[in-house]
Amino acid sequence: MKKIPLKNTDGTPEKTNGFCPQTPFLYGTYKEDGRPNFGLFNWFSYCWDGELHVMCCIGGAKLTKDRIHATGVFSANLVTEQMLPLADWFGSNPGYETDKRIDGLSIERGAALNVPTLADSPYTYELEVKQNIPLDEGEIFICRIANILIDERLTDETASVDERFKLVSPVLLTGTERYYGVTPNALGKWNQWKNTKPAL
Ligand SMILES: Cc1cc2nc3c(=O)[nH]c(=O)nc-3n(C[C@H](O)[C@H](O)[C@H](O)COP(=O)(O)O)c2cc1C
Repeated sequence: MKKIPLKNTDGTPEKTNGFCPQTPFLYGTYKEDGRPNFGLFNWFSYCWDGELHVMCCIGGAKLTKDRIHATGVFSANLVTEQMLPLADWFGSNPGYETDKRIDGLSIERGAALNVPTLADSPYTYELEVKQNIPLDEGEIFICRIANILIDERLTDETASVDERFKLVSPVLLTGTERYYGVTPNALGKWNQWKNTKPAL
C-alpha cells in the first residue's frame, strides 16, 4: 500500500474522518414545552471513569445542546437500518426551526431519567451529564450512563452473540457523507490472538 498525505486543493492538510466508520445515535431531549425533540449525532464514543461512560461532541448552536444544558440529561438511541430515513430527517432539520413531531412515532419516557426514548431503537442510553468541556466552537459532554434500555431479545442467552447482533442491524456512516449497513461477519473474539504473536 502506498500512503499519501491527505490534502485540500490549496495544499493544506485536509481534516476529515473520510473512510473511518462511526455509529450514529439520535439524541432525545424534552423541549421547554414538554414536547420531545431528536437530533442525529455521530461524534459519540465511550470513556472510562470507574465505570463505562459516554462522551460526545456537539458542534455549534443546536436545540439539542440547549436542552442538554437546561436539563442535564438526554437519551442516545442507536440508529438501525429501518430507522435511517427518520434519523436522517431528524439530522437535516434544525429543532430551532422545525417542530420535529412525527405522528405515530413511538416515544417512551426513560426508565431512570426524564428523557424521551425511541421504542424502535434496540439500544438506548439514558445519559446524565457529568462534565462538560466547552471548546471554541463546540462542546464535549462526558456522561454517566443512568440506564440502558435494550431489545429484550438481545438478552436471550440461548441465542449466540453473533445471532443477536444480526437482530440489531446498526447503521454506520463515514466522513464521506454516506450511510452503510453492516453485514454481520463474525471475525473473532476479543483476545483470541493473545497467545499468537504475529509472524509477518
Ligand atoms: C449524519 C449526521 C450526523 C451528525 N452528527 C452530528 C454530531 O456528531 N455533532 C453535531 O453537533 N451535529 C451533528 N449533526 C447535525 C445535527 O443532527 C443537526 O444540526 C440537527 O439539526 C440537530 O438537531 P436539533 O437542532 O434538533 O438539535 C449530524 C447530522 C447528520 C445528518
